[in-house]
Amino acid sequence: MIFEALKPQVEAIISNEIKTVDERLFSICELLEKNIAYYNWVGFYFSHPSKEELHLGPYVGEPTDHTIIPFGKGICGQVALSNKNFVVPDVKAQDNYIACSITVKAEIVIPIFVNGKNIGQIDIDSNTADPFTELDEQFLEFVCEKVASLL
Ligand code: SME
Repeated sequence: MIFEALKPQVEAIISNEIKTVDERLFSICELLEKNIAYYNWVGFYFSHPSKEELHLGPYVGEPTDHTIIPFGKGICGQVALSNKNFVVPDVKAQDNYIACSITVKAEIVIPIFVNGKNIGQIDIDSNTADPFTELDEQFLEFVCEKVASLL
């Protein structure tokens, strides 16, 4: 199972103190995008310390215009408010969705909690329709817990 194989690699990246936090987050994006065929854009958004906005952090994939997303807008902005995983099997079926690329068919966003506070999220876009299962959610929750230990 690819997820079990990737977990120790995520832990190795997290504990590599030679790299900055952003370098480690970028390496996690690279690891996921390279190893999971249906992960086509992988990035982190973090809440602004005082404004109700998400700001784009390290990512791998096509550049996006959406470097700042107000809370409530799009899938990402909704997760900033709901504090819950959001799995979107078909982005076309969503009214409150921010399109980054016409190739994207599905999206998954998992919040990152530090001391119980939702401080950001990992966002994954897929060019494959309906690719995500509970195993993706469980794996990405693991990734987010490890990332939280850096923040
Ligand atoms: N689709 C997201 C916006 C971010 S991009 O996927 C990189 C959304 O609806 O929030």
